[in-house]
Amino acid sequence: MHPTVTQADEKKMAKIYSAKIARTYFTQRRKGTFVNDGIVNPALRSLVGDVTRKSVLDIGCGFGADAKYFLRNKVRKVVGIDVSESMVALAKQNVRDARATFFVSGVYSLGVQGTFDVCVANLVFSQVKDISRAFRSVARVTKKGGICVFSLTHPILSAQGGLKGRMFNYFNRKLYNEYVPTIGAAIPMYHHTTEDWSKALEENGFVIEALREPRTPKRLAKLFPDLYRMFSYRPNALIVKARKIKRG
Ligand SMILES: C[S@@+](CC[C@H](N)C(=O)[O-])C[C@H]1O[C@@H](n2cnc3c(N)ncnc32)[C@H](O)[C@@H]1O
Repeated sequence: MHPTVTQADEKKMAKIYSAKIARTYFTQRRKGTFVNDGIVNPALRSLVGDVTRKSVLDIGCGFGADAKYFLRNKVRKVVGIDVSESMVALAKQNVRDARATFFVSGVYSLGVQGTFDVCVANLVFSQVKDISRAFRSVARVTKKGGICVFSLTHPILSAQGGLKGRMFNYFNRKLYNEYVPTIGAAIPMYHHTTEDWSKALEENGFVIEALREPRTPKRLAKLFPDLYRMFSYRPNALIVKARKIKRG
């Protein structure tokens, strides 16, 4: 397995997720966060379902939060890949289990060996420019009959250029920068339409089995009042479960 970060947008992400940012993200996430822990993870994990004795590829694994969850839930093996060397280093420190391995790779080339029952990408693909290419690569490493479950910034939100933006032309696949408090920096995000996601999956032998637009739990109203208000009338995230029906 070799580091395979070759494309311009991946190189940019690898640079952004520096040691300082990886550490900030790790520290902030441990405090419990609105988007990841409050909204996205419960929905994503429920769509992944039972992972007992399964093999899981965690694309854009960050510091290994989901890997830890899968290991607690009796996964056979989990491989985490991430463009950021610093994130991978943190994941290695944070997750010490013989069933887990982590290495540096971007999603376009995925230098992993073998195929997986489950591929997960949690809040990663909104940072990927060419999603057709990304799913071509995911299809190559997903077993026939296996699933890919991923979460993203909801297109209704990316179409307005993030939280503080204004609605622009929905059909304009625009790049925008979003300040993410848990990361402590502005991150480049790509707006893709809902149809773009669907087509990228179709073209690569996946069928969509389930979509979720999770509502914000009431318990977060006190902790994050402004965000709670904002997301009580529109979704923050879209979670997709797709099954690979054709051999890659
Ligand atoms: C918002 S963090 C999410 C981390 C993790 N999935 C989680 O939920 O805890 C996004 C992660 O995706 C990684 N990333 C961004 N673009 C990527 C790409 N093209 N290939 C692989 N990883 C990528 C970043 O380095 C970062 O660790």
